[in-house]
Amino acid sequence: MSEPILEVSGLRAGYGGTPILQGVDCSVQRGEIVAIIGRNGVGKTTLLKTLIGLLPVTGGSIRFQESDITKVEANHRAHMGIGYIPQGRGIFPRLTVQENLLMGELINTKSQQKLHSLVERYFPILTRRRYQKAGTMSGGEQQQLAIGRALVGNPEMILLDEPSEGIQPSIVHEIAHNMQRLNAEIGLTILFVEQNIDMIRSMAQRCYVMDKGKIVDQVYPKDLADEAVVRKYLAI
Ligand SMILES: Nc1ncnc2c1ncn2[C@@H]1O[C@H](COP(=O)(O)OP(=O)(O)OP(=O)(O)O)[C@@H](O)[C@H]1O
Ligand SMILES: [Mg+2]
Repeated sequence: MSEPILEVSGLRAGYGGTPILQGVDCSVQRGEIVAIIGRNGVGKTTLLKTLIGLLPVTGGSIRFQESDITKVEANHRAHMGIGYIPQGRGIFPRLTVQENLLMGELINTKSQQKLHSLVERYFPILTRRRYQKAGTMSGGEQQQLAIGRALVGNPEMILLDEPSEGIQPSIVHEIAHNMQRLNAEIGLTILFVEQNIDMIRSMAQRCYVMDKGKIVDQVYPKDLADEAVVRKYLAI
């Protein structure tokens, strides 16, 4: 487990001249589950958007599977094997579950049957609800759909932004458990942003702490049993 799948160094990006990322350094090994934690507004979402290519890089570099992707377009990064599940999920509410999944398939060339059975195995609710309009599902169901839609794109690694947001605790656990299974059983690499302490502790193998547009520390889930550590790093 020593091969880096993602290497980020000195990464800078922002919005129309307002710098947000101020030189982010981090790396993820193939097969790891890594969390990015930190208070509201420190730049966690901006980092994921920059990694998937939705924001231009103004400094530093991103390497994915040995290739420099710093200037590669977002759709290309998806083809190269990076899946992205945005904060708020980004599903198409008026489309059915099945139609949402079809949108996710557009980016890959691998056997659809295999990927469909994968989604069915991990998120059986998506099969049961395939004709339901996505916008009428609960927050937790929509989150599972968003993850399923990324999975049918056949990613090597997924970027997951605050999966627990607006979801009841029992579903948070179920999703965390399924992400761990995907990691253990198919070797999916996961980089996720999270502030929910339960989700971080049940899912992450390692956590980067972000503050003011930089990675300022690294902690392990067991360190988060200490309330003082949690208070220091999260808005709790
Ligand atoms: N589209 C945008 N245009 C201008 N500024 C933005 C935009 N999106 C975010 N920002 C600013 O960038 C900074 C970092 O925001 P970002 O969304 O990356 O934080 P975050 O750590 O994900 O926060 P949260 O935990 O609330 O999701 C904030 O100051 C925010 O106001
Ligand atoms: Mg965010």
